[in-house]
Amino acid sequence: MRAGDEAPSSAPIADVSEAQIAVHWREEEYFPPPPAFVAQANASDPAILERFSEDRFPECFKEYADLLTWDVGWHTTLDTSNPPFWRWFVGGRLNASVNCVDRHLSSSAEKQAFIWVPEPEDEETQALTYQELHRRVNEFAALLRDFGGVKEGDRVTFHLPMVPELPVSMLACARLGVIHSEVFGGFSGAACGHRIVDSGSRILVTMDAYYRNGELIDHKAKADEALAVARQEGVEVDKVLVWRRHPGRYGSQSPMVEGRDFFVDELLGDYRGNEVEPVSMPAEAPLFLMYTSGTTGRPKGCQHSTGGYLAYVAGTSKYYQDIHPDDTYWCFADIGWITGHSYIVYGPLALGTTSVMYEGVPTYPDAGRPWRTPERLGVNIFHTAPTTIRMLRKLGPEEPSKYDYHFKHMTTVGEPIEPDVWRWYYEVVGKGEAAIVDTWWQTENGGFLGSTLPALQPMKPGSCGPGVLGIYPVIFDEEGNVVEQGSGKAGNICIRNPWPGIFQTIWGQPDRFVDTYYAKYCRDRDSKDWRAWPYFAGDGAVQAADGYFRILGRVDDVINVAGHRLGTKELESASITVAEIAEAAAVPVVDELRGRVVEMYVSLKPGITPSPEIEREVAKAIETEIGKIARPRNVWIVPDMPKTRSGKIMRRVIAAVSNFADVGDTTTLANPEIVEEIRHRVQSAKLARGEVPRELSEQERKEIAAFGQAE
Ligand code: WTA
Repeated sequence: MRAGDEAPSSAPIADVSEAQIAVHWREEEYFPPPPAFVAQANASDPAILERFSEDRFPECFKEYADLLTWDVGWHTTLDTSNPPFWRWFVGGRLNASVNCVDRHLSSSAEKQAFIWVPEPEDEETQALTYQELHRRVNEFAALLRDFGGVKEGDRVTFHLPMVPELPVSMLACARLGVIHSEVFGGFSGAACGHRIVDSGSRILVTMDAYYRNGELIDHKAKADEALAVARQEGVEVDKVLVWRRHPGRYGSQSPMVEGRDFFVDELLGDYRGNEVEPVSMPAEAPLFLMYTSGTTGRPKGCQHSTGGYLAYVAGTSKYYQDIHPDDTYWCFADIGWITGHSYIVYGPLALGTTSVMYEGVPTYPDAGRPWRTPERLGVNIFHTAPTTIRMLRKLGPEEPSKYDYHFKHMTTVGEPIEPDVWRWYYEVVGKGEAAIVDTWWQTENGGFLGSTLPALQPMKPGSCGPGVLGIYPVIFDEEGNVVEQGSGKAGNICIRNPWPGIFQTIWGQPDRFVDTYYAKYCRDRDSKDWRAWPYFAGDGAVQAADGYFRILGRVDDVINVAGHRLGTKELESASITVAEIAEAAAVPVVDELRGRVVEMYVSLKPGITPSPEIEREVAKAIETEIGKIARPRNVWIVPDMPKTRSGKIMRRVIAAVSNFADVGDTTTLANPEIVEEIRHRVQSAKLARGEVPRELSEQERKEIAAFGQAE
C-alpha cells in the first residue's frame, strides 16, 4: 500500500521550485499518517504548534514539566545568566524514581512496567509490575546506600547488559540522588575502566553473564579488566556488585575477589522489604552521565539533569512516540545508549506505560523473532534503528507478513535511513498501518531534535522532518551565514535555542563543552542572551523547501557504525598500543547493512616486517580497548601514510581509496607517489575479497572527500 504523492494541506510548502531541489536529490513523496492513528493521537490538534512557537519560548516547556510530579515548583523556567550552561526549572525539586515508579502505584500498581524478553526463546518472559519495580528499586537503593556507602552526588558506574536489573539499578541511584553512568554492555573492560576513572566512581555494578546469539557470554571477566585499567590510572574501585543472570548460579569463569566482589542476590536478603525515602533533588542536579565519542580521544561524559531531562523525555514520549498509558511499547535499542535511557526507561515510565526489553540480538534464533515478540505481547509501538531494519530486510524480507501484530506507530533513529529502506519499514513492517517518525538527535540532547509530529505532519522518507516542538534549528555555512531552506545547499545544522533536555556540560571538561558545541557560532561570548549561543550539533544537513531536514551525517571525525559513534582518535590510539605500529588512521567505508564500517591504515616502526599477525593484533587491540562493535573490516599495513608537508595524515585520501572513490587533489601532499601504491595494494586486495562497495551517492562522495577535515 503506497500513499499518494500529494502533500496534505498541513505540509508547510515554501515557494521554491521542485526542480531546484531535484538538482541535488530526488524529492521523495509525502505519506500522510493513517486516519486511525490520527484519531487516537496525543497530539492531533494543530494548536500545539502554536503553543510551542518561538514567541512562547521558554515558557512553552511548562507543558512538558507539568507532566511530572514536583515536590517544589520552580521559580525560573530558564536561567541564562551563565551561558551556555543553561539552567532549567530553577528552584524546582523532584525525584526521578518517584516520577517513574511511585506516583503510578495508586492507579497502576499491578500494571506491567517492564516486560523482559530473555534471548533464549524457551526461557520465560518476565513481567515486572510497577509494584514489583518499586520493591526492587527500593531494596537495591537500600543496598547501595547502606552497603555501598553512596550518597547524593556520588557517581556509580554500571556495565550491564539488557536485563531488568539495569533499569532497577538506574532508578535506585535516582532515588538516592546518585549519578549513574551506564557503559554499554558490549564495550570492553578497558573502555569501562576509562569511564570509571573519568567519572570517579568507587562502585561498579555489573552482571556475571548474559545471552547473546545463543551463547552465555562471560561478562564479569570485563569487570576485572576494567578495574585493572582504572588502577593503572590511579583509581581504586571499592566494590564490584555482581548481579547474577540466574540468581544463585554463577555464570562466569572469573573468580570473585574476596572483600571486593559481591553477589547482589546474596546481599539483597538483608534489604528485603526495605523502603528508601526518595531524596528530593533540585531540578538542576545531574541524573546521569552518558559517555560518547568526539574528535579527541577522551570520551565525553554527557551530564544530564534531573528536571529538564525528565520533562523533555516525558513530553517527547507523549507527543512524538504517542505513548498512552495502555500502550505496549517496544524500543529495540540497548539501554546502554542514550536512546534506551530516554525512550526505554525514563520517558515511557514517566508516562506510566508498559515498556518491553529484549536481551539479545534481533535475529536470534531467526529473522522472525522481532515479529513473533509483538504478536505474542501485543506490542503496538515499535522503535528501532536503520541498521536493524536493513538487516531484517535482508534476512527475512517477507517475515513480518507471517505474524499477526499491528503497530500504530514506529520510530527510526540513529542514522540516516535510505528512502528505499524506509519504504520497506512502512509497507512491510508497518503493514501500511503505522505512522513513522524518523527522529534525529544525539547523546548530548536528551531527546528528539528533529521529527515530524506523527498525526500532524506528513512523513517523507529519508528526512527527519522539521525541528520538534520548541526546537528552532538553522543551517549555517562555515562562515556563519544562514543557508536558506530550499536552497539545495548543505551546511552545519545548529539549534538556535536551549531546551530542557540539553546536557549540562561534559563531566569534568567544561571548556571542551563550550568549545565543541558553542564556540563555532557564538556571536558574542559576553552575551547573556541565548540567541547569541546557537548549539552546533556536528551534523551536516540540508533543509528542503518544505522545512524538512535531511541529515547527512557527522562533520567531525566520528564514524557512525550501525548507529554507534566511534571516534577516529579512539580507534587510532587503540591501534598504536600494538608495539609494532608507528602511526594509524581510521576511515569510514560505506556498508550496505551497517551504514559505515571502519578500516584502519597503519604504518610500522622502522625495521619491522609487515605480517597478517600484526593486522590481527591491531584488530584485537581495538576490540580490547573499545569493544567488538569497533572491530575494523580491514587493517591495511602501508609503507607510509599520505601526508601534508606539515606532517598531517590526509585521511580523506585513504578514505577515498577504501571506498573506490576519487582521491581528489593530491598535489599538496609531501609524498603524492604513495597514493598510487596504496590504492593499487588496497583495491586489488579488496577486489580479490569481493569487497567492492556499490557506487556512492553524491552525498556519500562528499562525506568521504571531506573526511578528516575537522582535525
Ligand atoms: C546520527 C543517537 C540521521 C547523527 C540518538 C547524530 C541520525 C548521531 C539520526 C548521534 C537520524 C541520529 N537521521 N542521522 N534520525 N539520529 N543520527 O549520540 O549523525 O548515538 O549526530 O545518538 O547519530 O548519535 P548518538
